[in-house]
This record gives sequence, structure tokens and C-alpha cells, in this order.
Amino acid sequence: MSEKSKLTIRLDKVIGIINPNIYGHFAEHLGRCIYPGIWVGENSKIPNLEGLRKDVVEALKAINPPVVRWPGGCFADSYHWRDGVGPVDQRPRRPNIWWGGEDSNEFGTDEFIKFCRSICAEPYICLNVGSGSPREALSWLEYCNYAGNSSLARLRAENGHPEPYKVKYWGVGNENWGCGGSFDPVYYAWEYRRFATYLKRADPSIQLIACGHISRDWNLKFMEAMRNHIYLLDHLSIHYYFRSPSFGDDIKFTDEEYLNLLFDVQNLKYQIQQAINIVDFFSEKRKNIGIVVDEWGTWHPQATVESGLYQQNTLRDAILAAVVLNLFNRYSSKIVMANIAQTVNVLQSLCLTKGKKTILTPTYYIYDLYKSHMGNYALEVETQSPIIMEAHSPTSSSPRFTGRKLEPLQALDASASLSKDGKRLTITLVNQSLDEDLETKIILSGDKEVKEGELVILNAHDVRDHNDFDAPNNVTPREEPIKMKRKILNYVVPKHSVNRFNLTLK
Ligand code: AHR
Repeated sequence: MSEKSKLTIRLDKVIGIINPNIYGHFAEHLGRCIYPGIWVGENSKIPNLEGLRKDVVEALKAINPPVVRWPGGCFADSYHWRDGVGPVDQRPRRPNIWWGGEDSNEFGTDEFIKFCRSICAEPYICLNVGSGSPREALSWLEYCNYAGNSSLARLRAENGHPEPYKVKYWGVGNENWGCGGSFDPVYYAWEYRRFATYLKRADPSIQLIACGHISRDWNLKFMEAMRNHIYLLDHLSIHYYFRSPSFGDDIKFTDEEYLNLLFDVQNLKYQIQQAINIVDFFSEKRKNIGIVVDEWGTWHPQATVESGLYQQNTLRDAILAAVVLNLFNRYSSKIVMANIAQTVNVLQSLCLTKGKKTILTPTYYIYDLYKSHMGNYALEVETQSPIIMEAHSPTSSSPRFTGRKLEPLQALDASASLSKDGKRLTITLVNQSLDEDLETKIILSGDKEVKEGELVILNAHDVRDHNDFDAPNNVTPREEPIKMKRKILNYVVPKHSVNRFNLTLK
């Protein structure tokens, strides 16, 4: 059966510029993300490019990753950068106090920069505030960015890199309300000011990301303590994991659990809006402080410390990623970066590895589809479609939603963007319904018309379908011809599918 829906795209209503960094990534020394997901070493039998895993590098490069955040996560506030530079055989081996096992430090700053360059991404380094010091942070910055003849700039040159790395993004600690030192927000603000004063003085070109929270209380108190030092603050981060027993397992979940997960996106939206309200209030419009969704993604029960936070990734994860990226596009006037957690073998990964094999997850294909939004003007969109979960469902009584005005979950979700030259329109359209195809009228309002276009669809027989090492192509995108002419397209959006239109306008 097919239901009627409508999507209106206002070509003349720009709501923001989609910062490419919204499509960012996060890689931590955790489980099998760095070793052997990214780094296998030059002597490995696994094909590599100077130690970097070749198949993973090639897969990531193909989706134009804009930025990678490293080395954590919780790991960051226990990491001392000097452990990871210089001759590899002289680097100390340290216990990984957060995630277990030991770290050989084979993958350090120079290897991270090499990785970023090999996939054409900007590096984003998260500093150690919890167990580190401003002096340690300053020396790391000097090692990376100083162009003169200081001892640390010379050390970088001796390690093979005479030119400064020009690392632009620096996080001042990670989750400092928890694994990053168990600070309270006012104490963290004092630390933030101390670190930022010296970092900004040493290199005014850098952008600093402060540790925020999805707790309103933390953000309020932190921002209040920063009120007279707004000039030291560039961006505030939040982390959001989709993690609840009501979402079921990674590959085994009921239809209700599928809907519960997608219903939760409005909680993320609420947290983003709260963070925006707070930074705007305290900055009093003296500075446009961006929101960085530093870490986000699904966290299923299979991802435990023992499993190295490894979990499978189904079409459901991909649909969730598509809806979240649509949300970020619609918030592009305030969200300046978002990093999915994590790149390889950990949580909502894009690649999974086993020995010599690497597979691409359904989530990977979402990033491939959505890359055409990067850097575009985000447009206002309006959707009308059947409700697939009422606001007053059993899920909505969960503590995550206490005291909120909830919205019912609509089947259709979308975002649209226009290239800077005004010639190319990208539409990403998701049908979240489990059983209904949606007969949809896509209307372009404004003076332009469609000349030609292409459509790519990601779906599968079932939302539980996933790619595995013996069946790597269960869920892959396919191209379909479209008959869109002029200003209206009638399109039946298949159930549980993600659809990307790239249209040329005239
Ligand atoms: O991504 C896994 C962990 O989740 C990170 O180390 C931490 O920042 C967050 O709690």
C-alpha cells in the first residue's frame, strides 16, 4: 500500500551554509579503531601505505572526510603526546586506563597527521586537560604549528616534517564532567580560561572547542563563568549517543524498538536547541559561538568495554544517520562540526575489519550519499506525511523526555541544499516507515526548474539487514533514473529507504 506525502523545498529561502565539518569523524585509541583499523604498521601483511591500512584509507578518501578528531574520547585526558613521537622502538608502552590493554604508541601525532593527509581531512586534536597541564598543551601546539627554530619545531623537523602542520582545531579536554577529570562546570571554566589564554596567545589562528554537556546545568554554569572571557571561546561541544534498552540490540530488535530509536532524534534536537539558547544568551551576540557535536551515534548493548565497543551496523543505523545528518543540515546556521563515533570497528563505524578483510557498513553509504551537501546553502524544507509513532507512545514516558513537549514521528524526513553557484540542488529524503511506500509530491518553490538529475537509493529487504565478512554487499546503494521535469516530481519513496537526488537547475 502506498500513502500520500508532500515535500516542499523553498529554493529562495536559505537557512545557513552547510559546514563540510558536519560530516566529520572521530577515531580514538579504543578497541580496534586505531590498531588495526587505521594503523597496521609498515611490516604488516595487511596492505598498507607507510603503515596506514590501505583499504580503509581508500574507502574513507572516497567520501571526502572533512575532519578527524583524535586521540579521544576518554583516552585524550590520559594521553601524553611526547609518548607518541620519535623513533617508534623508543616509544613507551602504556596501559590504556579507559579501554583496557596497552598502547604501543606506534600511532602518534606524526602518524595521525599522515592519516589525515592521506584521506584529505583536517586534523582535530583533543588536548589533555584532566591529567595534563597548559604547558604540555602549549608544547604540543608548538610541535605541530610553530614555524620557527624552537627545539620542538626542530624535533618535528628531525622526525621528518620541517613544515608546520597548521592544526586548526583543538579541543580543550573531553567530557571533563566525567572521564576528563570529574570537574564541576565552574572549575572547568577556570581551567578552560587558563589553557585558552596561552594557546590563543601562542597561535591566534587556532579554533578552540570547549567541553559542553547535554546537561543544561553544566552548560549554564560553564557559560556564566565564561561570560567575561567570551573572546577565548570559539565553539561548545556536546556528545550524544543513542543508547537505551528500549532500542534493542545491534541486529536483533523489534519493530517497536526500531521506532523508539528514530523517535529519540527529537531528544538530540532538543539538546542542540538548548545548547544554542545558552551560548547565544551568554555571548550576548558579541561572538557567534558554534555548536560542535563532537561525538554522536548509536551505542548498542553489544558495544561493551570487553568487546572494544564493537557492534554491527544495520540499515536501521544508516536510516538513523541519514535523519541525524538531515537535522544537522537544517541546523547549519549554528552547527559547525559533528563527528560520528567512531570511524572503524568502534560503535557506529563506517568500516569494519577482520584480519585482511574490510567491509563498508550501511552507515558508510550514507556519508557517500550526503557528501554532495557539503559547503552548500541549506534550504528551508517542509514535509507532510503519515505519523508512524504518536507523541504519547509508551516510549515518550522515558526519563529522556521528562517535562518536554514531544512531537509525533512523521514517516518522511528531508533536507535540501543548493550549490554556491545556484546550479545544483541536493535533496536527501528518508522514509522511516517500516511498511508503507510513500507516494510523494516533491515541489520546488522559487523561480528555478529542474533540467536533469540523478537518484541514488539505499534500502534493503529488511531494516535488520547488514553487511558482513561473508556477505559484504547485502546493503549497498543503487542508482535509478528519474523523470523529474520542471518544478514537480511525483516519486514513490520506498519503505525504510534513504534517497539522494542530485538535480541540475535551469
Ligand atoms: O566513544 C566512546 C566514548 O564515549 C568516548 O571515549 C567518550 O568521550 C564517550 O563517553
